[in-house]
Amino acid sequence: GAPVSVDISSIEAGEMRIVEWRGKPVFVVRRTPEMIETLKSADLKSRLSDPESDVEQQPEFAKNDTRSLSEELLVIEGVCTHLGCSPKFNPEVEPQAYDSNWQGGFFCPCHGSRFDLSGRVFSGVPAPTNMVIPPHKIEGAILTVGE
Ligand code: FES
Repeated sequence: GAPVSVDISSIEAGEMRIVEWRGKPVFVVRRTPEMIETLKSADLKSRLSDPESDVEQQPEFAKNDTRSLSEELLVIEGVCTHLGCSPKFNPEVEPQAYDSNWQGGFFCPCHGSRFDLSGRVFSGVPAPTNMVIPPHKIEGAILTVGE
């Protein structure tokens, strides 16, 4: 698959855009300062399976709370690590049936896996690992996914 370049300047804080790469959806989210704070909270991290992304192969820059080149901009494959459904972007909605403390992220409708706004998987759901960060680079307003 050839790399794909898109202008991301029009994505507002709190919004997600989907870019297609190699037949997969790539989610691009511009996070708000509040979202970034939440990602760093000890309370959230205590409920994640792998908060530092140690167990699976990930780029070095993804082994932290924001899993991104710049804290604000998340670029992540929109594919559930359970059986490959595409999770829904639920930045604020709390699916109470699954977790009354959920602070937003990605929710997989197929079997109920939950991920935070860095794609880190919560404990106790079917998905085994964090969502995958694809190779990408950002030059000014242009995001290029792939290499
Ligand atoms: Fe996402 Fe099963 S495919 S929870």
